Amino acid sequence: MRLSKRMEKMQDRELLRLMELAEAPDMISFSGGFPSPQTYPIAEIKEALTEVLDLHGYEALSYSSTSGYLPLREKIAKRMNKKYSMQLSAESVIITSGSQQGLDMCGMLFIDKGDIVLCETPSYVGALNAFKAYGADFIEVPTDNEGIIPSELEKILSEYGERIKMAYVIPDFQNPTCRCWTAERRRAFMNIMKDYDIAIIEDSAYEEIAYEEMDRPSLISLDDKGQVINCGSFSKIFCPGFRVAWICSSESMIEKFLLLKPNIDLSSSSINQRMIDVYMDKFDLDEHIGKIIELYKSRRDLAVSTMKRCFPPNVTYEIPKGGIFVWISLPQGYNARELLQLALQKKVSFVPGGSFYTTSGKENEIRLNYSNMCEEKIVKGIEILGGLLRDFLK
Ligand SMILES: Cc1ncc(COP(=O)(O)O)c(C=O)c1O
Repeated sequence: MRLSKRMEKMQDRELLRLMELAEAPDMISFSGGFPSPQTYPIAEIKEALTEVLDLHGYEALSYSSTSGYLPLREKIAKRMNKKYSMQLSAESVIITSGSQQGLDMCGMLFIDKGDIVLCETPSYVGALNAFKAYGADFIEVPTDNEGIIPSELEKILSEYGERIKMAYVIPDFQNPTCRCWTAERRRAFMNIMKDYDIAIIEDSAYEEIAYEEMDRPSLISLDDKGQVINCGSFSKIFCPGFRVAWICSSESMIEKFLLLKPNIDLSSSSINQRMIDVYMDKFDLDEHIGKIIELYKSRRDLAVSTMKRCFPPNVTYEIPKGGIFVWISLPQGYNARELLQLALQKKVSFVPGGSFYTTSGKENEIRLNYSNMCEEKIVKGIEILGGLLRDFLK
């Protein structure tokens, strides 16, 4: 069969293979970016679902409106307004089937073949692959622990100008590094970007998984030009299986997404949206998020203290202040893909950092996920990795 040209760019099966391997029952997997199923509130979900079916069964099992279930959109707008002192209305929100769909729609909306997308270095491979399918080229903007470096951003913008259509950023507890941009960098970024006709995609998938208080204004709350498209999700703060997420932006931008959405899936799942809406009426989502944070924080502490005990001193990492990953650097010249082969033989998996770069191809880093594994396996897996690292780095 003659496949589309875009499939030429979709040949990289490495991550898929790794995720399949990671699912083997005897594997200690630090690979996925998954929430812990232990946090899923099954009893409460049952109660909410029963209420939805009893009271609105026919509507819940029908198609939803394209924009999504109005009471849920109102709740999302209200949460954003409360957190960031904004004044969004439900018309500024569209429900998507996972924020992955939101990201894909951003690609569809903005990217023509050869357009440039700016991204952090490194960045979330799922978004990069979605944009790649529309023919995007990428420029990685040099990024440090505080976020994108403003002077580097300015250089790139002045050099590539018109070809840049979109900037894709994850300011809160980024995947894969778990970096969190400082408030100063957020302001500097928006200040520079406001002079350019470039859409800013702010991916907030991990925004609520914060272990400590920090001043973190969302980019959309700093936007007075209607430039920011904020993608949020219930996946990490509730359950990914419902595939319910949202895009917030100016009303005129949301209208553009409304033109695309029916062509993709007609509407997001009606019953899942209503279930989450009723859950939020009957139970306290913030309290639930608090429990998730408590669990992940204790797993982070355990992962970090085990790494301190078992990893050679020339292996470095920042302690994450939120999110679900630790980003680990081996000394220059060592290749994490080679280490992975050794780890897989010992039934331990992780994602080599090289998978998260579009152009710069650094190979000495590791993304290690700690949210989705019991304490015993975290310790055992890191002890095994520590033993391997001591030999590998000799
Ligand atoms: C940064 C980032 N954005 C978006 C997504 C997609 O999330 P969703 O489950 O809402 O589609 C993920 C998933 O892990 C992610 O890490």
